[in-house]
Amino acid sequence: MARIVLGVGGGIAAYKVPGVLRALQSAGHQVSVIPTQASLEFVGAAVWNALGGEAVASGVFDAGPGHIELARGADLVVIAPATANLMARLAAGMADDLLSATVLACSAPLLLFPAMHTQMWRAPATQANVATLRSRGVQVHEPGVGRLAGRDSGPGRMVEPDEISRIVLGELDALGAPGGRGEAGSIGEGAEGVGGLGRGVAYSQTAAGALGGRRVVVTAGGTREPIDPVRYLANRSSGRQGIAIAQAALAAGAEVLVIAANVELEAPAGAERVDVETAAELHKATLQAAGGADIVVMAAAVADFTPASPSEAKIPRGGREDLTLRLVATPDILGDLLARRAEGQLVVGFAAETGPTEADSLARGKAKARAKGADLTVVNDVSAGRGFGQPDNAVWILDRDGQQVAACAGSKRQVADAIVQALSARLPARERGESEQQNLHL
Ligand code: CTP
Repeated sequence: MARIVLGVGGGIAAYKVPGVLRALQSAGHQVSVIPTQASLEFVGAAVWNALGGEAVASGVFDAGPGHIELARGADLVVIAPATANLMARLAAGMADDLLSATVLACSAPLLLFPAMHTQMWRAPATQANVATLRSRGVQVHEPGVGRLAGRDSGPGRMVEPDEISRIVLGELDALGAPGGRGEAGSIGEGAEGVGGLGRGVAYSQTAAGALGGRRVVVTAGGTREPIDPVRYLANRSSGRQGIAIAQAALAAGAEVLVIAANVELEAPAGAERVDVETAAELHKATLQAAGGADIVVMAAAVADFTPASPSEAKIPRGGREDLTLRLVATPDILGDLLARRAEGQLVVGFAAETGPTEADSLARGKAKARAKGADLTVVNDVSAGRGFGQPDNAVWILDRDGQQVAACAGSKRQVADAIVQALSARLPARERGESEQQNLHL
């Protein structure tokens, strides 16, 4: 049984948080609920008391356990919804109510699930606060895109309660907290017996600072190759895994550039973003940025072929029964990166394979790892709709000899943390003062 502090901020999404409390309790954990005064407008103390949340007080001087006691006893602190105001207070280190005082006094990992109107989320002040919190190792989860209160929609929706519970339970696993679920998950029986990473995905605390001062370029999404002005060849990549890697790298202290190929998701606060459409544009932007990077992660799904001569006008059907498009190969970005890389730079490739069995996917991934020579190759089996566009992923992480470094099944963020961990273990040691000399701007 782990001890969890569940902070509740004053937003409409508070009405979904009792579901999180129930799920964490059902998993056998002890949960102390600390609602802010404003949140009691949305969900009253009676609800939390009825559900058995243990310390339902808002003020520092209210009856019940005090902030120091709560902070000392916590294995994990979760705040949902994290409002703009609450995050501003946390970023400023304020301690003007029981929740903020507990957070300030607590050294346990802190997970925030923001929810607010899109304009408030995008406001420079909020983004700066999010970046500050992340730079301190706080796990700030990107809000979802969708319907908000009223008629508006956009980024700002709180992550759904089921997903919050899953992330929190995964986090407890990763921390090896009492009562975690044990193994983080398995991705089936591969040639070498593909186990889960178990407790090896040390998150936030271990990762915080692991990439401090490093520059990381992450490509994300999928390229689009124009056929004519209205049509293109594309793939199913949403960019979620690449964005999660950017988040994990930021949380580990890196400076991050996301090169986004047709990604609808927002890049995490604190990361730079460059948008591209085609493989040729991605090639140019990536090679340019790689010059100043310590790590380049090629998470984008790049078209291998592009129409040889895209039509300038819309191609009419014109009574035809078939149409042949001639395709030509796109530049091999990963190959060019590896050919030109500076000494000590780490390059990560991906291999999305389609079986038919997981062992086949792994075997092909191993062959690709050896043939391409990236420092790490992240292999996943994307048959039967797995991987693309999903919140979860299951991967093997291989070294340049095709040897398995790790296997991880979980949320894309957990997979991202496993990749960051494998990278940080491979980074060449850096002498003092060298980081200033290597300051090449992305
Ligand atoms: N990649 C790239 N440039 C391309 C195509 C792919 O840099 N034109 C990168 C991808 O971003 C990924 C890795 O190469 O990190 C492997 O992609 P994949 O399509 O699996 O590799 P291919 O060599 O094209 O293998 P296959 O023959 O299986 O398509």
